[in-house]
Amino acid sequence: MKIMTFSASKGGVGKTTLSYNFGSWLAHSGYNVLLIDADYQANLSSTFNMFTNQGTLLDVFTDGSPKIRHIKTHLDLLPASPNLDQVESLVHDRMYRELIMMGWLKDNIDQINQYDYVVIDTHPEFGMLTKNMIAVSDYVFVPLEPSDYGFQQSKNQFDIRMNEYRNNSKDPRTGESDIDAKVFYIANRIRHNTNTSHTFKKAIESLPDVVAQIDEREMMNSSTLLKKPVIDLKPNSQSNREFITELEKQFETIRQHME
Ligand SMILES: Nc1ncnc2c1ncn2[C@@H]1O[C@H](COP(=O)(O)OP(=O)(O)OP(=O)(O)O)[C@@H](O)[C@H]1O
Ligand SMILES: [Mg+2]
Repeated sequence: MKIMTFSASKGGVGKTTLSYNFGSWLAHSGYNVLLIDADYQANLSSTFNMFTNQGTLLDVFTDGSPKIRHIKTHLDLLPASPNLDQVESLVHDRMYRELIMMGWLKDNIDQINQYDYVVIDTHPEFGMLTKNMIAVSDYVFVPLEPSDYGFQQSKNQFDIRMNEYRNNSKDPRTGESDIDAKVFYIANRIRHNTNTSHTFKKAIESLPDVVAQIDEREMMNSSTLLKKPVIDLKPNSQSNREFITELEKQFETIRQHME
């Protein structure tokens, strides 16, 4: 069982679109997948027509009863509650507040171990809830936007945040950090045939921790709007067919980075 979180210091970079499409692709490939929506905007949950405040991720933090929903073959979901934005104030006086999710996983490990992959979508900020998700993760995948300036800046910013988090989470008794997630980057929404996109592609090809590149495509946008993963959309052109083949290749590369 591997746990991965999509996180980013920026909003609107594709965390939800990738959680949805990558998770669906894993399930389609025969892996057992649990999706967790850790964003109170609940965009991922809505993609499965799940908008609720009963039995959600919030219950993990309030000693309630979180309820994992079965979506379809190989795919389950623990939805977000719109009230998740209150989680920070609800637990602010608990000592190990960034390790609450870890406690829940430990208590439910037999159930969680039945999944090959747990894929977590987060809110665009490095707050307490996101930190809880990173603490349980083996991997963090960070989508980045394809402008040269914004790309480097967001990448550096995320690196700094992660380092701070690792250092601040050292157990004073052992000097070891509880945070051992490995961070990889995904260049998402790459546009072609502009000067900037050529420079950008060259620049990222030399970065070893950027493990996948995904083009800007209307199909990606449609997938969450139509509530259908890209792999289930009917390609209406040769170029769309090629995009799906390429997307599956990039997803397989991402998967292999978790081995
Ligand atoms: N590769 C892509 N090609 C085209 N559109 C994309 C691509 N990836 C994401 N998008 C679009 O970009 C917008 C933002 O994506 P998404 O909602 O996944 O970002 P997010 O990081 O989850 O945002 P938030 O921070 O608000 O949660 C959406 O309209 C989505 O359809
Ligand atoms: Mg989102």
